[in-house]
Amino acid sequence: MARRSGMVLLLVVVVAGAAALVAAVPPTCERIECPAYEVVDGANGFEIRRYSDAMWVSTAPIEDISFVAATRTGFLQLFNYIQGKNAYNETIEMTAPVLTQVAPSDGPFCASSFVVSFYVPKKNQPDPPPAEGLHVQKRAGAKYAAVRRFGGFVADSDVGEQAALLDASLQGTKWAAAVSEGRRADLTSSYTVAQYNSPFEFSGRVNEIWMLFDAKDAADM
Ligand SMILES: *[C@@H]1O[C@H](CO)[C@@H](O)[C@H](O)[C@H]1NC(C)=O
Repeated sequence: MARRSGMVLLLVVVVAGAAALVAAVPPTCERIECPAYEVVDGANGFEIRRYSDAMWVSTAPIEDISFVAATRTGFLQLFNYIQGKNAYNETIEMTAPVLTQVAPSDGPFCASSFVVSFYVPKKNQPDPPPAEGLHVQKRAGAKYAAVRRFGGFVADSDVGEQAALLDASLQGTKWAAAVSEGRRADLTSSYTVAQYNSPFEFSGRVNEIWMLFDAKDAADM
């Protein structure tokens, strides 16, 4: 009997511990559609997620010295796309987050390369309209993301800083090797910024830094 209540207590502790690892879904995702994910792990300042295969619509690479400016440029192209500027003249519901993949330059004054993407809503997943200058595709490769959340309006200076903090929080964990391998393998993007709010929401803003890595590397974890 004592042994059984010990087991139950242990179970309660384990379940409570697991629940504490799971950060709440961004509030935006209660109003508009977000891609589904499963939380695999989480600890001091990071979360490991697995995303399912899904279609995303992406801009061509945008060269700019500013993350904020490049994201605005890409956002407008994608916003026109969902407003009907596509091969089917079809309007599409807004989703979250807006992703900006960042491939930083080596030199201090060189432009970086940015690709901005919207997640295609479930309704349009089977046949998203093509559009000139945009790529509509299943996001290839990496399905796992190491994630760090931060608030406010994203400034150019936040991006590298938050990426460094995420990187630091992963050091010494079982994820560090897979994440850095994933970043090496993905030559087009060193990290990704996810923004969940429109520019007109001033409080409770949710942003995330993602580092994508491969399912293969994480399969044994
Ligand atoms: C989309 O709109 C344009 C301009 O009004 C029209 O020429 C074209 O035929 C439309 N395409 C479809 C698939 O409805």
